[in-house]
Amino acid sequence: MESPWKPFLRENMRNPYPMYQQLRSTDPVHHARTGEWVITRYEDARAVLKDNRFLVGNRVEWLSKASAQHMDKWESFAVIVEALKSFLVFKNPPDHTVLRKLIMQAWSDKAVDQIIQENISELLLRIDASDFDLVSGIANPLPAMTMARIFGLPAEDYQYLESLSHKMIQSLDLYLTFRQIEKMEKATREFIAYFEKQAVIKKAKPDNGLLSRLLQMNDGLVPDHELIANCFFLFISGEETTAGLIELGLYHLITQNKMNSNWKDSTLSGLATDELLRYDSPLQIVVRMAAEDIMLGNTLIEKGGAVTVCLGAANRDPEKFQHPDQLQLDRSPNHHLSFGSGVHRCLGDWLAKKEFEILLAVLHERFHHFNILSAPQWKENMSMRSFQSFHLSCR
Ligand code: HEM
Repeated sequence: MESPWKPFLRENMRNPYPMYQQLRSTDPVHHARTGEWVITRYEDARAVLKDNRFLVGNRVEWLSKASAQHMDKWESFAVIVEALKSFLVFKNPPDHTVLRKLIMQAWSDKAVDQIIQENISELLLRIDASDFDLVSGIANPLPAMTMARIFGLPAEDYQYLESLSHKMIQSLDLYLTFRQIEKMEKATREFIAYFEKQAVIKKAKPDNGLLSRLLQMNDGLVPDHELIANCFFLFISGEETTAGLIELGLYHLITQNKMNSNWKDSTLSGLATDELLRYDSPLQIVVRMAAEDIMLGNTLIEKGGAVTVCLGAANRDPEKFQHPDQLQLDRSPNHHLSFGSGVHRCLGDWLAKKEFEILLAVLHERFHHFNILSAPQWKENMSMRSFQSFHLSCR
């Protein structure tokens, strides 16, 4: 029988939900032709994410192996392989535990609201609200500007960092080509050189930004090069994901005539943001590797088996969510998996939600009519859902 798992079909990238529905109802632990196990039920997805025998890091292993087979290219991919190995999201306990604790201690949400408000005001001044591209005008720059200020970096550097981030986000693609890795290697070298230079400046003259706090709190716990790699990881992990939330969130609110909600009511806006995240998650897929033979329901996942967890499919599982294909902004409880689950659960969920909710509140304060001017162009990426462009008019 033909496999329903066709992540590269353009129509599935644009709308993966019918494919997920088919898999979930006929073969919820699906063995793909490419060898990995594809998980689409909520309970199975959550079980994999909560079980530390399912390791992270297989992407790094794959990259190392692929590079080793092409020794001529191996040298040139050394920087990205090393950087990915250091990323929090690709580390397993106990190393993961130490690094995560350090980053969580250094994070602070003080003054973040004000930073976001100021950034939104600045961006709105630059656009003509009656006809603008939400992606390049607000969704992409807002998270980069906000992260640059949280880190304590020169404000004007955000555009450079944003452009590097976009090259790196391909690391989340399900399958990578050498050309993509080449681009990522170059971006990684630039990112690392940038943060190394900034670290020298912050060591000489510390401030209250995240980079200074990380360097001060580290105190030898984690080697400096790992810390630098994770500054770079934090920057990219908050970029395209948050942009996706802004783009998809506004798209669904407008197309489903729900832009009239009162976004100043924090209870409602919190519930609505979670529902938008459940309904259409910016990050659709995370991957794991079985450290030993593991039974998932009635299926044996053999040691070394790769597992693709479809967060977007789990979020539409009718056994967990009533009327899962309906956007119900006051849905509660709403234990969606868009931020993952278990030890790797997203560290920046609060920040992404704040950026989205403050943006929505400001848009509602200033405008009353929101129209889509032309059909948005999807980015062709199965792991990350976002738009290439999305033209809006706000009056
Ligand atoms: C709507 C926006 C976001 C979504 C949908 C999202 C989603 C996720 C998901 C699904 C994971 C788990 C990955 C896994 O289990 O393999 C994750 C991890 C992570 N996210 Fe986010 N994220 C978002 C925004 C952010 C932001 C703004 C930041 C920080 C600036 C951030 C930082 C992180 C970090 C550091 C991890 C790794 C945690 C760990 O491995 O312990 N994320 N995110």
